[in-house]
Amino acid sequence: MVTATESPAEFDRRKENEVLSTEEVFARARARETALSRLLMAFITSGLLFMLFPGTLLGVWNLLQISGRESAGLISPAWLQAHGHAQVFGWIGSFLLGIGFYSIPKLRGDVTAAIRRAWLCWILWTIGVALRWSSTVYLWNWRVLLPASGILELAAFLFFFRAVSQHRPESSSKGGMEPWVWVVMAATFGFLAALVGNLAGSISVALHGSSPAFPHRFDQRYLALLGWGFLVPFVWGFSAKWMRVFLGLKPLREKVLLGTVLVNSAGVILVLFGITSTAVWFFTTAAVLSVVAIRIFEPGTQEPKTRGIHSSFPFFVRMAYGWLLVAALLGVAANFWDTSGGIWGASRHALTVGFISVMVLSVGQRILPAFAGMRLLWSPRLMFGGLFVLTIGCTLRVSCEVLAYQGYANWAWQVLPLSALLELGGLTLFAINILGTFVLQPSHAFKEPMVVGVASLGPR
Ligand code: HEM
Repeated sequence: MVTATESPAEFDRRKENEVLSTEEVFARARARETALSRLLMAFITSGLLFMLFPGTLLGVWNLLQISGRESAGLISPAWLQAHGHAQVFGWIGSFLLGIGFYSIPKLRGDVTAAIRRAWLCWILWTIGVALRWSSTVYLWNWRVLLPASGILELAAFLFFFRAVSQHRPESSSKGGMEPWVWVVMAATFGFLAALVGNLAGSISVALHGSSPAFPHRFDQRYLALLGWGFLVPFVWGFSAKWMRVFLGLKPLREKVLLGTVLVNSAGVILVLFGITSTAVWFFTTAAVLSVVAIRIFEPGTQEPKTRGIHSSFPFFVRMAYGWLLVAALLGVAANFWDTSGGIWGASRHALTVGFISVMVLSVGQRILPAFAGMRLLWSPRLMFGGLFVLTIGCTLRVSCEVLAYQGYANWAWQVLPLSALLELGGLTLFAINILGTFVLQPSHAFKEPMVVGVASLGPR
């Protein structure tokens, strides 16, 4: 048995040549699962804090300023970018790293060393994202701190990448790699490319810029890489892995899914070369293909698994895919008619709030309680409340951003602050529910040995 003064690694070494009793094997599994759950909770908690304060509160403040002045052009681009960075890397990036580490290293031999590296990754990542936000907003020593934050974030990612690349992915029934693994690998490459782009942009503005904001042309291409090259493929990968079970969908169309990733990657490359007018059609095609591949709107063959969460879960997951289509179509429209940044902004938020955030609120509340020590979600009703309020906020935001920024309807400027507060409310309810789950719900891990094996799926 692992003693109070003994780490799991010491235990591993002591027991290397001994035959373990069932009790000791169980104790070792428990120590590893507890360590992994703690790590996951650290990533999720820091992600939630980045999402709430540097991300959403600054986003709301920016939108209140824009609505007050009836123009987006008068707001500091550095503050807009600080908001975007905190949301994409601080929130979603922290969640992805935490879930990634939780899913991988327990399958491997020397888990303790892997967990130590994962904690180092968390420290580097959290300091990197925090430095980036504060140096961009407060301008304190930004010429040094901006590139330093990019280096810390990239270094953290490389710790993660090392853990992932040592892991042997699951094989499909036909012997090759599971299709979702290809998609997640493409997304991981997009994550790396986004961090390299961020570091290159940071070094460039530190040397030649007059403020920490990336220049507009660079920023637009970089944002397409963040959205379509990194965030969207991750959601496709996780949908391909989990949605069949969670929603009881028909089997994945594997070739169509791989086609989706190829068309989408071609779109990202076109944007990086500045050929946005063609790229938007590639993104739209990829969005439609993903719906066909995952069969998200087709009737399922089994009952959705909603025990322990709100029964509206399948509705919101499907609605997120509706937002993906809206985001892609708004990108096409922006290409023809945008004169103010409003249609591009609406497309971006249909993607980041409508697709990504609705998906994170839905799937996050489905899987995170189980990953964090086999807990049950604190409040399924709060889950519904958060998703409902976020959806109303996002609908008002996306529609009124087009109407107001483009000058089609002046009244829409009055609605935008309300949309921001609703989005803030929805995201805050999500954070409360997850933190409530971590703090107030008891852990049911290791009441029986079988739990280790089912932790990856959570309560049915
Ligand atoms: C309460 C919710 C939110 C509010 C009020 C908000 C507000 C804003 C505003 C005002 C802008 C400036 C551009 C524009 O007018 O469209 C912006 C840009 C952006 N937002 Fe949000 N946002 C919210 C949520 C999110 C979320 C959840 C994400 C990502 C997961 C996100 C990612 C971004 C990105 C990447 C940009 C572009 C920054 C740049 O110009 O480089 N936002 N947001």
